[in-house]
Amino acid sequence: MKKNTKGIMSLLLAAGLLAGCGSAAGSSRTSAAAVTAAPAAETAAASESSAAGSGAAESAETEASSSGAGSGKTLVVYYSATGNTKAAAEMIAGAAGADLFELTPVEPYTSEDLNWSDDNSRVVKEHEDEALQNQVALTTTSVDAWDSYDTVFIGYPIWWGIAAWPVNQFVQNNDFTGKKVIPFCTSSSSELGESGKNLAEMAGTGDWQEGRRFSSHPDSADVTDWVSSQI
Ligand SMILES: Cc1cc2nc3c(=O)[nH]c(=O)nc-3n(C[C@H](O)[C@H](O)[C@H](O)COP(=O)(O)O)c2cc1C
Repeated sequence: MKKNTKGIMSLLLAAGLLAGCGSAAGSSRTSAAAVTAAPAAETAAASESSAAGSGAAESAETEASSSGAGSGKTLVVYYSATGNTKAAAEMIAGAAGADLFELTPVEPYTSEDLNWSDDNSRVVKEHEDEALQNQVALTTTSVDAWDSYDTVFIGYPIWWGIAAWPVNQFVQNNDFTGKKVIPFCTSSSSELGESGKNLAEMAGTGDWQEGRRFSSHPDSADVTDWVSSQI
């Protein structure tokens, strides 16, 4: 499906819809102006992230920090292009005593790839063609001991009001039957919106919860409080 990417973004910004395209309880709101500046800021941040080694060297990994207690384990799966969702994921894992699993595209997004104001950038082309979104391959979508996890948090940045599509193949390739699935996202100002519901439909299995949006720089006490209300 073709979309007028810049037109849509401009309209959303003008209408302030990016600041309120959802209603996750307790989510913070910031001004639409913050959104205007955000993607450019993220583009700059992306180069730092790439330089810091967010590519193949930092491939999908599990970190042995499982609680091991109770009836089952908790996993925090996330994709993060510029580090914000990663920070939130690490806070959630710390609060939940969970394992972490980072989703890494086979072709990581560079700062040029993430430049939403460039009609020819990778992310704009993918935004304009949903088929491309589902083709973003990950280094792996297979989690060791997947059956041992009862609860799965799944995190992503918001891109144009929806979940950043590098999470799609993970959601499509895994069976969430019997698992409580809790979406979370970071964004400049958009809410979680329909992103969690869309992923639940994409998965087709699992007990998906409402989820929660955090700002691009989540507050650790805020995250911890929320986690304790979820598990
Ligand atoms: C291509 C692109 C599109 C974005 N679209 C939105 C949006 O629609 N609404 C919003 O509030 N923020 C948007 N952002 C900002 C990111 O959601 C936000 O900075 C997020 O915290 C980035 O997370 P990350 O560092 O884990 O990648 C966008 C950023 C990029 C790169």
